[in-house]
Amino acid sequence: MTNKIKYFIANWKMNGTNKSVNLHKKIVKFSKKKNFNSNIVYCPPITLVRSFQKIFKKSKIKLGAQNCFYKDQYGPYTGQLSPKMLKESGCDFIILGHSESRQQGDNNNIINQKIINSINSRLKIILCFGETLNEKRKKITNKVISRQISQALKNVKNKNNILFSYEPVWSIGTGNVLNEHDLKKYLLFIKKLLISKHKIKKPNILYGGSVNSSNIKTLKNINNLDGFLIGSASLKVNKFIDIIKKTYN
Ligand code: 13P
Repeated sequence: MTNKIKYFIANWKMNGTNKSVNLHKKIVKFSKKKNFNSNIVYCPPITLVRSFQKIFKKSKIKLGAQNCFYKDQYGPYTGQLSPKMLKESGCDFIILGHSESRQQGDNNNIINQKIINSINSRLKIILCFGETLNEKRKKITNKVISRQISQALKNVKNKNNILFSYEPVWSIGTGNVLNEHDLKKYLLFIKKLLISKHKIKKPNILYGGSVNSSNIKTLKNINNLDGFLIGSASLKVNKFIDIIKKTYN
């Protein structure tokens, strides 16, 4: 049995302790089940990457970072981590453009620089974009998404290692998810945009924002959706596994 949902990505944000990492050992066994053919990626705080590496050592589960500094390599930048350092510490993925990072000052130009440097350091990008509630009310979602993607991809040559994660800001951490009709409409818009304007033959598109084990039953069947970026529901291993299991039923 195969699953159309290829990616389950856990965004732990600023959460987790070494003790909580150990509770996630359970997902290793689950990921080795015969019919399981999706990718699981954990993006914990960097402080927990070592602990996760230990429990995921003999599995295909990958690790990712949640952001980086806009310059690569090494240098006099107190408190910063470069894409190169993140790759060296065992991360294969990196979340960029998350609305919570945008709120901390990341703009489209900085995100673009981070993407270019992260690709140079062989990280796979999870690029987040999406409209605020205000922009949704003004009915400018398409315009916002289109601008965020275009500016993020400026001068990016190899776009094959980018996953495109649509995350409406008003949906994150609120329990509110787009209705099916709107989600389908925006996913189709994003797909067409990536294929026609950005010349990506088979873009991978994710959705993030209040995904949980109840709404997954509807979300999993939506066209043009290749995976999910999951925040709070990924912190508890049973909840996370439950979400994945329900996409296989
Ligand atoms: P929640 O699943 O907690 O709404 O967070 C979504 C998110 O921000 C994923 O990046």
